[in-house]
Amino acid sequence: MANERQFRLKTKFVAARGVREYRATIEQWVGPEDLVLEIGCEWGTTTVLIAPHCKEVIGTDISSEVIERARERHPHIRFEVFDAFDVRAAAEIGDHFDKIYIDMSGLSGYRSLLDTIALLNMYATTFRPEAIIIKSGALKDFAANCIAWRPQRET
Ligand SMILES: C[S@@+](CC[C@H](N)C(=O)[O-])C[C@H]1O[C@@H](n2cnc3c(N)ncnc32)[C@H](O)[C@@H]1O
Repeated sequence: MANERQFRLKTKFVAARGVREYRATIEQWVGPEDLVLEIGCEWGTTTVLIAPHCKEVIGTDISSEVIERARERHPHIRFEVFDAFDVRAAAEIGDHFDKIYIDMSGLSGYRSLLDTIALLNMYATTFRPEAIIIKSGALKDFAANCIAWRPQRET
């Protein structure tokens, strides 16, 4: 049952619409000491943009074909294959990440909003990152309509 002492996540969720916004977050959210995980890295185009801003970045994808190509293109970056919904496989790669980037096909539409939130919650509780940056227009719209209610001060 919910109560005041219940565990609360401190992870910030940053929702970006489209790849341009997704990449624009790097400068603001990634720091030089960060260990970063990218989920859904495809050929590593964003992974390689994150790399100069952090201590280490690991690019991951469900497709072994795209990971092979990412490794060929960017041999100085670590790339691994796993399904994002298999969080135990993710935990074999590392037990803590400061920032997690997620750009997975199928997560942008409204119909996948609950899957998106479940995925964010799973990664936030497992790795306790400072922030998860996700490319999801649906989540961005949803977040823009959320208000953390606070009572107005009496004047
Ligand atoms: C739009 S592409 C990623 C583009 C890349 N982030 C970039 O900035 O260039 C989406 C990727 O999500 C991957 N993907 C889809 N479902 C996945 C899953 N369940 N786990 C991990 N990756 C997944 C796909 O294989 C695909 O490479």
